[in-house]
Parts: sequence; C-alpha cells; structure tokens
Amino acid sequence: PDRYAVIGNPIAQSRSPVLHTAFARQFGHDLQYEKLLATHENFAETVRRFIAEGGKGMNVTAPFKLAALEFADTLSERARAARAINTLKFGPEGVHGDNTDGVGLVSDIRDRLGIALRDRRILVIGAGGAARGILQPLLETGPAHLLLVNRTERKAHELLEACGAAGVTAAGPLDAAADGAFDVVINATSASFDDGRLPLGRGTFAPGALAYDLVYGRGETAFLRDARRLGAARVSDGLGMLVGQAAESYRLWFGCWPDVEPVMALVR
Ligand code: ATR
Repeated sequence: PDRYAVIGNPIAQSRSPVLHTAFARQFGHDLQYEKLLATHENFAETVRRFIAEGGKGMNVTAPFKLAALEFADTLSERARAARAINTLKFGPEGVHGDNTDGVGLVSDIRDRLGIALRDRRILVIGAGGAARGILQPLLETGPAHLLLVNRTERKAHELLEACGAAGVTAAGPLDAAADGAFDVVINATSASFDDGRLPLGRGTFAPGALAYDLVYGRGETAFLRDARRLGAARVSDGLGMLVGQAAESYRLWFGCWPDVEPVMALVR
C-alpha cells in the first residue's frame, strides 16, 4: 500500500485517517494512513524517518504547521500566503508543502452549501493563524468587499497589509462588524473553544446570510447561536471545511477529486 500519515500533538483525536481511507475506497486505491505523534524536538526527524520508510505524503496539524513550512523544499503560493502548511508531498524532487485549508473552506461554502462568494460582502472575524490561512483563497473568489475585524485591531491591519488586496478589503476593531449587512460571516477566532461571545448585531447579517464557524465538533457554538438569533438564514460549523481540505490534499497526492458528500455523512 501507499503510505500516508497525519502528524501533530495531540494526534489521537484526528479524523484524517477516516477521511482519507474513505476517499481511497471511492477510487479503489490501496492506502495506508497513520497517525504520527511528534514533539517540536523530533518533528523533522519523524518526518524524515517516514520518508525513508517509503511515505508518499503527510498532513500536518497543530502545532507543526509552521515547522513544516521550514521543512519543505518548495512551497505553493497559498502555503506562502498562509505562512502555514497542512499538506506535504514527498517525491524525487524533494518535499513540497501546500496549504489546503482555505480552498477547503471555499469549496465547502460554494460547492456543498451552494452559496456564491463572487460579488458578495464577506466578514472575517479574527486575525490569527486560522484567519491567515483562509484570506487569500477567499479574496480569489472575487468578493465585492471583505472586512477583517479583530479584538486586537492592529493585527487585522497587519494581516491585510501582508496579503495586499487594497480596494476590496478593510480592517477594523470587532465592533466594526455590527452594521455591515454581510452575506457571509466567518468566525476565525478561537473564541468558540471557550464559548466566548462576539459583538454581533442585527445589522451584521444581510438577508439570506450565512454564518460559518471554522470550529467543528462542539455542537452549535455561541457564535452560531447568536448569528441565528440575529437573523442569519443559514449557519454551519467547520466540519465541511475539514472534509474539504482533506479532499484537496487527496487531489494533490493522487490527482483525483473525491466525492465529499458521503464522507460528510460518515464523520457527522
Ligand atoms: P488560531 O491559529 O486558531 O487563529 P491564534 O493565532 O492564537 O489562533 O488566534 C486567535 C484569534 O482569536 C485571534 O484573532 C484572537 O484575537 P486577538 O488577536 O485579539 O488575541 C481571537 N480571539 C480569541 N479569543 C477571543 C475572544 N474571546 N473574543 C474575540 N476574539 C478572540
């Protein structure tokens, strides 16, 4: 079998083996997908050993997305923009690093949820690693406007300056989101991990708006509950993004695009 793995710490909770095994079944690929636990000290050594044993590729999860950036010989444009890697491909030409998180989100919103992003008003809340990973793919969909807000406003400005899409984008403090009538509102903060509330208002959501939390597996978060109460027509957690990023990794490794819908049902 072809050997693949996901590396992280902790790693026991990872659903990547289930996802990739399900994709492989769709195509009849012979795939062995493992979980690798590493530390910051032995990350590089663990990846090198996996390559030496014949490993073909790897997903990278917290806290190694930055370490993987340094490990890779070549980087995709989107990995460079995200300054993080979630997918490695090992080949004769070396280690290639990519980041499929952002396209995973975009394909989930567009293809699975059926919501267009072109010419829409998008709000992204948060300016940490998760936000950085999705900004460029979101901008590539051609929104009419993208507002990035963050508790620490300075970080929102810095992040937008780094990805440079003047004209369409603006940055501001959290409460700048209260009145913008956005079509798509994305929570990229880590607030959902401790059920933190965000200052949303009725004016945040345009008619028919989607509220999307990047977090998954925590039921309906405070953000999604508030969004629904304040008029969001549709809400979604980040499980579809998880499946979407895995599908894009699979495409990078095998060149074929898995059907995500039955796999969503499997992990739901
Ligand atoms: P991640 O990699 O998950 O994005 P991170 O890089 O630590 O994690 O970033 C966390 C993000 O969530 C930041 O934008 C943070 O805001 P600050 O930059 O002001 O710290 C945001 N965040 C975390 N808890 C929050 C809360 N309770 N309310 C609002 N924003 C919060």
